[in-house]
Amino acid sequence: MSPPPSRLLILGSGFAAVTLLKHLRAKAYDVTVVSLRNHFLFTPLLPSTTVGTIEFRSIIEPIRMARRNITFLQAVATSLDLKERTVSCANAVDGRVFSLPFDELVVAVGTVNNTFGIPGVEQHALFLKELRDARRIRQRLIDVLERTSSPNIGKEELFRLLHFVIVGGGPTGVEFAAELTDFLEDELTRAFPMLVGSVRISLIEAGQQILSSFDLSIAEYATRLFNRRRVNVLIQSRVERVTDTTIVLADGSSLAYGVLVWATGNGPTPFVTGLPFEKDEASRLLTDDHFRIPGFEGIYAVGDCATIRGRNLPATAQVAMQEGKYLALRFNRRGQGIPPDRLRPFRYRHLGMLAYIGHNEAVADVAGHKSTGFSTWLFWRSAYLTRLVSWKNKILVLFDWTKALLFGRDVSRF
Ligand code: NAI
Repeated sequence: MSPPPSRLLILGSGFAAVTLLKHLRAKAYDVTVVSLRNHFLFTPLLPSTTVGTIEFRSIIEPIRMARRNITFLQAVATSLDLKERTVSCANAVDGRVFSLPFDELVVAVGTVNNTFGIPGVEQHALFLKELRDARRIRQRLIDVLERTSSPNIGKEELFRLLHFVIVGGGPTGVEFAAELTDFLEDELTRAFPMLVGSVRISLIEAGQQILSSFDLSIAEYATRLFNRRRVNVLIQSRVERVTDTTIVLADGSSLAYGVLVWATGNGPTPFVTGLPFEKDEASRLLTDDHFRIPGFEGIYAVGDCATIRGRNLPATAQVAMQEGKYLALRFNRRGQGIPPDRLRPFRYRHLGMLAYIGHNEAVADVAGHKSTGFSTWLFWRSAYLTRLVSWKNKILVLFDWTKALLFGRDVSRF
């Protein structure tokens, strides 16, 4: 009689977890997935949904459809009991708590927005991590445009409300600034012509350059394009405090704003913070080069919440996907009775970096070759289109792009 399948518990539904699921030959495992999000979200295209270039449901895939014959539970993992080998969870809808036993555990819970504890940010800023964040931004954007179209609005209030501020010049902040600028340039003249000339966008970055993970020449190119499109790029400007109407910088100056989007990077989830494992200075779980937590048999960590000791892997989709695939290979070997430890250590293959900077232009750094402009934008679009996980998503995104090109973006408020 063959032994009962090993109970494999996967926490998370992002790039690492979903790639693992897709490549896992599940026969030898009894798989349970727990995640707060019951769908996979293609985050590289999330900024496009904030302004309606792409519709929300075009970039998600329900986990229950992504893989058959698994148990999925929409819940948050709250704590780990190492002695009992169980994870405590709370249902995402009603908060009811339960506990799940495991033989093998994969922690792939990702990260949360990092506000660095800056006063006022949690209360007043919008974020861009989940689909609900993108929906809030789109709603707020249209709310502001409708509000400022009112004939009885004062000039000072009009200018404040129409000042859109993005804090954080990493890829998230830059791609959102790019989409917002496109939206305002294209749709304002069509739908709100009286507001043209009153809108301002500021992108605030604490460091020496925006897009710091790219080459300086690329960052300068993006800054020049933003400046040409009248986006005020402020570098070496650290936001220290936020009120409901004002942003205060470290040099004491302040800016009045109407919509504030906060994109200063990510930090650990409360679950990861509470785990008794070793972490790096960014609070990521430290693993060996097989993604095992050293000293804890059968516990693995992949994706943005972890990194291999001594190798500062970037928190990107391509890293998470390669890690998920490697871990699936390891589990598959084991399922076939092949010793998984003989698998050669994980090696990350960097495929390059891409970012959209607006006006049908993108920047790329692929295999040491740097490029910018319209042809890079075509490459950016085709690269993301081919990486979307399902045919349904590919068709929907292609349809949304065509619709936005022919008819503009929808500005309905409901
Ligand atoms: P990030 O950590 O890359 O950038 C955050 C930026 O905010 C930094 O440049 C930092 O200097 C700035 N900042 C921090 N505190 C500040 C303050 N108080 N005032 C002003 N500026 C402040 O975060 P992001 O963009 O969310 O990216 C997260 C991860 O996801 C990164 O690893 C990134 O490479 C990856 N990513 C990659 C994309 C791509 O390759 N196209 C797209 C989106 C994310």
